[in-house]
Amino acid sequence: PETITVQELSNRMAERATEVIKQLMKLGVMATINQTIDADTAEVVIQELGHTIKRVTDADVEMGMLGLEGNDEVNLIPRPPVVTIMGHVDHGKTSLLDAIRSTDVVRGEAGGITQHIGAYQVNLASGNKITFLDTPGHAAFTEMRLRGATVTDVVVLVVAADDGIMEQTIEAINHAKASQVPIIVAINKVDKPDSNPDRVKQELLQHELVVEDMGGDILCIEVSAKARTGLDKLEEAILLQAELLELKANPDRSAIGTVIESKLDKGRGSIATVLVQKGTLKVGDIFVTGNESGRVRALMNERGQQVDSAGPSLPVEVLGLNGTPNAGDDFVVVESEAKAREIAAYRGHRDRELAVAAAGRGSLEQMLAKL
Ligand code: GTP
Ligand code: MG
Repeated sequence: PETITVQELSNRMAERATEVIKQLMKLGVMATINQTIDADTAEVVIQELGHTIKRVTDADVEMGMLGLEGNDEVNLIPRPPVVTIMGHVDHGKTSLLDAIRSTDVVRGEAGGITQHIGAYQVNLASGNKITFLDTPGHAAFTEMRLRGATVTDVVVLVVAADDGIMEQTIEAINHAKASQVPIIVAINKVDKPDSNPDRVKQELLQHELVVEDMGGDILCIEVSAKARTGLDKLEEAILLQAELLELKANPDRSAIGTVIESKLDKGRGSIATVLVQKGTLKVGDIFVTGNESGRVRALMNERGQQVDSAGPSLPVEVLGLNGTPNAGDDFVVVESEAKAREIAAYRGHRDRELAVAAAGRGSLEQMLAKL
C-alpha cells in the first residue's frame, strides 16, 4: 500500500506539520510527525486543507525532490570517456591498467603514493584524458547494470593472444552487448612466442565481433602490457570511439554521479569513490547517495591529494558521508540538509516497504530478518 510520512505530506502541501496532525486527529488518527499514513487517509487530509491531489510515481517524486526535472541539456561540453576493462582471468586486465597508468603525464610530476581506488583518470601527452574503472570483475559491472547505473562509455575487452576467447571473455561480451556499450578489443600478451592474434580475431567472429581488418567496425589493438607496446594505439582507439559517441556534459550545475565503490575507514568514516557524471562536485556540497546523505568534507584524487572540486568523468574519493552507500548508488547534490535528509528518509522508508512486500511472499522468519 502507498504511504507517506506526516512530515512529507505537510512539506508537499507547504502546510505546517501540526496542521496535518490536527486534521488527522479529527479523523481519529493519532500520528506523530515521523509516522506514515496510508494514501487514502492522506487524500482526506489533503482535501480538508483545500489542496488538490496529484498522485505521482516514485520516480516522479524522486526527480522532483532531487530537482532533476526539466531540461538540463545546456552548456554541454565534451567530457572524457569512461572505460571499463574486462576479460578472462589472467588475461592481463590489471597489468594493462598499470601499464596505461604509467603513461600518465601528470603522475610523474606529482609523485606520491598511488592509492588503490576503483577508478582513475589518465592524462595523456596529447592533453586528452581517459577515465578507467578498475572494477574487481564482472560482478561489480553486472550489479551496477542491474541497478540501472550506466557509467561505462566503452568496454575494453582484453583477450590473451596465447589463450584466446574463454568463458569470462564471452561473459564480458554479453554484458557489454546487454548494456549497449561499444567494445574495443585489446589482444594482449603479443610479446609471447606462442601468441596468435589472428586466431583471436577468428574466434571473435563467432561472437559477432568483426574486427576492422576483417571488414568489420570493431577496433582491435594488439598490445603487450608487459613490454608496454601498443598502449598509445589503444588510447587512440578509445578516444576515437569516444569521439563517435559525442560524449558531453554540463559542468556548470550541481553534481550528479554514481558510487563506484565504498568502504568504512576506521579513522575517516565512510568513504565513497564517486564518478561525477554531470556538473561539478565541490567541498561543502550537500548530497544524497542511495539511502545515505552527507556534506562533502574533503575530496581526494587517486593520488591521495585533496582537491577542491571534480567535474564530469572525474572519479574522486568523497569524505563526509553519514553512512556507507553501495556500488552503483546514485550521488546527487541537493540544496539543503533538510532536503537531503528528507530524500534519504523517503528512500529508506520505500526500501523497508519493498522488503515487507517481498517478505509477504515469503515466511514470517524472512520478514523478521529483513526488518
Ligand atoms: P585477474 O585479475 O586474476 O583476472 O587477472 P588479470 O586479467 O588482471 O591478469 P594480470 O594482469 O594479473 O596478469 C596475469 C598474468 O599474465 C601475470 O603473470 C602477468 O605478468 C601476465 N601478463 C599480463 N600481461 C602480459 C603481457 O603482455 N605479456 C606477458 N608475457 N605476460 C603478461
Ligand atoms: Mg586483475
